[in-house]
Amino acid sequence: MQKNVKSIILAAGKGTRMKSDTPKVLHKIFNKELLGYVLDEVNKTGEVAENYVIVGHKADMVEAYVKENFENAKCLLQSPQLGTGHAAFQAYDYLKDFGGEVLILCGDTPLLTSDTLKDFIELHRKNNSSLTVMSAIFENPANYGRIVRDSAGNLCAIVEEKDATSEQKAVKEINTGVYLLNWKDISPAFLSLDSNNAQGEYYLTDIVKWAIKQGLKVQSYILKNNEESFGINSKLHLAQAFKILKNRVINKLLESGVTIVDPDTTYISPETIIEPDTEILPCTYIEGKNKIGSHCKIGPFARIRGDVELGNYVKIGNFVEIKKSKIKDHTNVSHLSYIGDSRLGSNVNIGAGTITANYNHSTKQKFQTEIKDGASTGSNSVLVAPLVMGENSSVGAGTVLSKDIKENALGLTRAPLKIFENWFKK
Ligand code: UD1
Ligand code: CA
Repeated sequence: MQKNVKSIILAAGKGTRMKSDTPKVLHKIFNKELLGYVLDEVNKTGEVAENYVIVGHKADMVEAYVKENFENAKCLLQSPQLGTGHAAFQAYDYLKDFGGEVLILCGDTPLLTSDTLKDFIELHRKNNSSLTVMSAIFENPANYGRIVRDSAGNLCAIVEEKDATSEQKAVKEINTGVYLLNWKDISPAFLSLDSNNAQGEYYLTDIVKWAIKQGLKVQSYILKNNEESFGINSKLHLAQAFKILKNRVINKLLESGVTIVDPDTTYISPETIIEPDTEILPCTYIEGKNKIGSHCKIGPFARIRGDVELGNYVKIGNFVEIKKSKIKDHTNVSHLSYIGDSRLGSNVNIGAGTITANYNHSTKQKFQTEIKDGASTGSNSVLVAPLVMGENSSVGAGTVLSKDIKENALGLTRAPLKIFENWFKK
């Protein structure tokens, strides 16, 4: 399928209310940047060929993030920042001969889903619109731009709260800041924008009035779930969005047959796949991309940090941390262990307090550990990577294993035990 949409993602604003050295769109939920959520969802529609991210405040940091993570995104600098209309205009020259549709949205709305975006694009096409605005209904619409309609219910303008009459302020339909435009029809609007308004800014919202004046077809798409338009402006918003996202993930997993004993204290990232009949016990935190099979038992108090693949019937118990590791069927890591950069076979048993020592602090290098089928570790063993433990091999309790051991071997480092009889009687 030929991709006919390009996006403009507005992310130049300062985000003053975050009170942070980090640019707003690089704040994270489940260790993933807000801007990453937006770009991923936009790309997941399968419609978008290229994304222009408008950067300004701490542009270098945002650009470095985008460059490293998104092949089909390009950052464009907006300096100074004269408003949302001026921000989108930064892509104007790049879109000169573009004949498709342009999706405009903000970089701080991590809850917007690709399904909604697909639906939005579909409606725009079905109705042969030139411009479609995504709106939402809020009981308390404070601070948003209001969708103003004529007596026949036709959209006529978006009015910012600061410019609104009291009658307009009472409108509950608001502008979410997401637009789809047929670029050929609407792009001339950007040349007509002015800053004659309460904020002295170039408002992107003014393209609506312009299009209507030209007799072009303009309509709104009302969000089914207004939560999706939630834009992050403060640390409180960030925490609220995290909760919403986490609950969304948990509800989906419960519906799909995963057992989650206590949804309130369970945290699972949206990029974690879990098969039915796995049981997640309370106070478990799972972030990043992971694949977890069925009939596993995880927690209570387990932490999975990403790039983890578990087979079926795997047990990850209390106070266990797992990172960048593959673990096969019927393997247990039951208590107090750290498994990082490792491959564990099936039927492996990891004793309490086993640590894979995977990191050399002075060289900053990480090393791999491989523990083959049927192998086991005694309690409190340290496995100094790089390391391979052969099939059915074992290390005794308290061992610091710093060399490979072959199949069926036992590795043991232990100071000889001394017993002093009647020591306390002397
Ligand atoms: C904007 C809309 C408002 C809508 C609301 C939804 C306008 C004039 N108003 O208002 O109708 O209800 O979003 O959240 O568009 N940005 C830039 N460069 C700029 C200014 C802003 O990149 O010069 C970016 C910001 O980083 C942010 C987005 O644009 O991601 C929205 O800007 P913001 O100032 O938050 O707009 P609102 O006043 O909330
Ligand atoms: Ca905003």
